[in-house]
Amino acid sequence: SEPLMRRPLPPKEVTSLDDVLHEVSVLVKPHFGKGRPADYISELAAVDPMKFGMAVATIEGEDYGVGDADESFSAQSITKLFALGLALNRLGDEVWTRVGKEPSGTPFNYLSQLEQEAGVPRNPFINAGALAITDILLDVVKAPAHLVRDFMGVLAGEPLSIDDAVAKSEMDTAYKNRAIANLMRAQGTITHDPAAVIEAYCRQCAVSITCRQLAKAALPLAAAGYSPVMEESIFPERLTRRLNALLLTCGIYDSVGSFAYRVGLPAKSGVGGGIVAVIPGRAAVAVWSPELDRYGTSVVGVSALEHFSRLTNCSVL
Ligand code: DON
Repeated sequence: SEPLMRRPLPPKEVTSLDDVLHEVSVLVKPHFGKGRPADYISELAAVDPMKFGMAVATIEGEDYGVGDADESFSAQSITKLFALGLALNRLGDEVWTRVGKEPSGTPFNYLSQLEQEAGVPRNPFINAGALAITDILLDVVKAPAHLVRDFMGVLAGEPLSIDDAVAKSEMDTAYKNRAIANLMRAQGTITHDPAAVIEAYCRQCAVSITCRQLAKAALPLAAAGYSPVMEESIFPERLTRRLNALLLTCGIYDSVGSFAYRVGLPAKSGVGGGIVAVIPGRAAVAVWSPELDRYGTSVVGVSALEHFSRLTNCSVL
């Protein structure tokens, strides 16, 4: 056989994606109990830690799910990917005057790097960078959270909602994010009232979504910008390549290196326990399980993606 050829996903005649997902759901079982659900947002601490869902959407328009794949969870930082896509679509490279493109090597809510670097966040996925994107979106719309929710909804093919209880419980304790927003306001990288930016950001993070919806919503990143759900192109091809590059280098914060080592796919995590990963040219995969590692990434979710990547030979690396 051709040594440089990738094995097709899936090797259909051998294993179906349903079988792969089922096998993954069995292989992850030993990893429950190793992490802890997010507790700094009280509503997230109340979610059953044993939940596990996983879904795949292929560029051919098929989708597959296992476990709790059709149960909604809090998207949290995964919404940052869609907010960035909207900002880049509307404002283009101007975005990069306000936020960088480098991995931070620091936790997602780190403060002091920001002051050392003149208030310019390292990348759009750490909280500081996402707050800068919210600020940019506030220039063009009154309610950026609704814009992001509606964008994710049209991509998923179903309307999505914002969980007000989750948004409120984050607002109750968002002291660190407020510090970040205030520092950026002082340094000029945020132009709106920090309180308005924080409120819009917390509401955006509280979008609820299922694994199956999330896999479909991310599909344009695997299909050169084309949405098989909407049957239209929503990102220029070059932009999807750039978004995937940012995901690969910054999507999992300060554990992005070990994630690339284990899984080998561009991906975005959220403290609700969700992770979405892109298989360029083939599919998008979403997984959800609430117990997190110390970097805020789902322990069972990473394990599931690692097994999935190995079983389907879909690593981009
Ligand atoms: O700002 C926060 O802390 C949360 N709304 C989102 C953080 C998050 O999801 C980090 N990702 N793993």
